[in-house]
Amino acid sequence: MKTKLTIAIIGSTGNMGSAIAKSLAKGRNRLMLLGRDETKLNTLYNDIHTQNNDADVEMVGCPKDASWEADIVILAVPYAAEAAVAEEIKPYVTQKIVVSIANPMNDTFDSMVTPADSSAAQELQKLLPDAQVVKAFNTTYAANFAEPVIGDKQADAFVAGDDELAVQTVAGLVESMGLHPVVAGNLATSHTLEHMQLLLIQLTVKNGYNWHAGWKILHN
Ligand SMILES: NC(=O)c1ccc[n+]([C@@H]2O[C@H](COP(=O)([O-])OP(=O)(O)OC[C@H]3O[C@@H](n4cnc5c(N)ncnc54)[C@H](OP(=O)(O)O)[C@@H]3O)[C@@H](O)[C@H]2O)c1
Repeated sequence: MKTKLTIAIIGSTGNMGSAIAKSLAKGRNRLMLLGRDETKLNTLYNDIHTQNNDADVEMVGCPKDASWEADIVILAVPYAAEAAVAEEIKPYVTQKIVVSIANPMNDTFDSMVTPADSSAAQELQKLLPDAQVVKAFNTTYAANFAEPVIGDKQADAFVAGDDELAVQTVAGLVESMGLHPVVAGNLATSHTLEHMQLLLIQLTVKNGYNWHAGWKILHN
């Protein structure tokens, strides 16, 4: 039996945070939900319990306490908020997995705000040098978590990082959520993964994919 993990989701009341929380709550891990808006947090907590009364989930008020207890911290906040959150949790995530889901796009969705040779995940690793930052879920739209099979194909979800065990742990989580994990490479691969989502958003707008689309690598 796989080890039960404690997973903190910072920004759990947002589109991605709530979708990830609801998906993970179907498994056997322990979830800690964090959010600034108590009403939204209560709604999420109740939704999860309605879906699965046995879900091991709690609301936690403080990112420091949650990071201290968690095995994995998922940052489901906008890229612009990551530096402040990282500063707060930095002492508590040493040797822990921190998942970067961010796509650091500008407001017009035509370029990135990160340096040309970097990515949100690499910038987060610089802010949290003692954590094991893993890129995941950035090419998965929030709606895909409830329906990971799109047009009869299971969506791929790319995972990238420098620590092999951390990458495998996150790939296991991805698989448990009904997505198909593809280990893409080291953390620098995040640059490509984030640009893949920039392209998907542009195609979604242009072709009317209704925010339910994804990537699938076809192979024999
Ligand atoms: N939406 C997608 O389909 C999608 C797909 C792939 C990746 N992503 C990435 O996922 C991340 C979240 O996107 P989203 O669409 O879920 O955004 P969202 O719906 O706006 O949710 C953002 C969450 O972060 C919280 N937050 C904002 N600023 C914060 C701060 N300074 N400190 C703590 N919490 C803060 C918000 O709380 P409040 O409610 O209190 O403001 C909310 O819970 C982004 O980095 C985005 O690039 C999104």
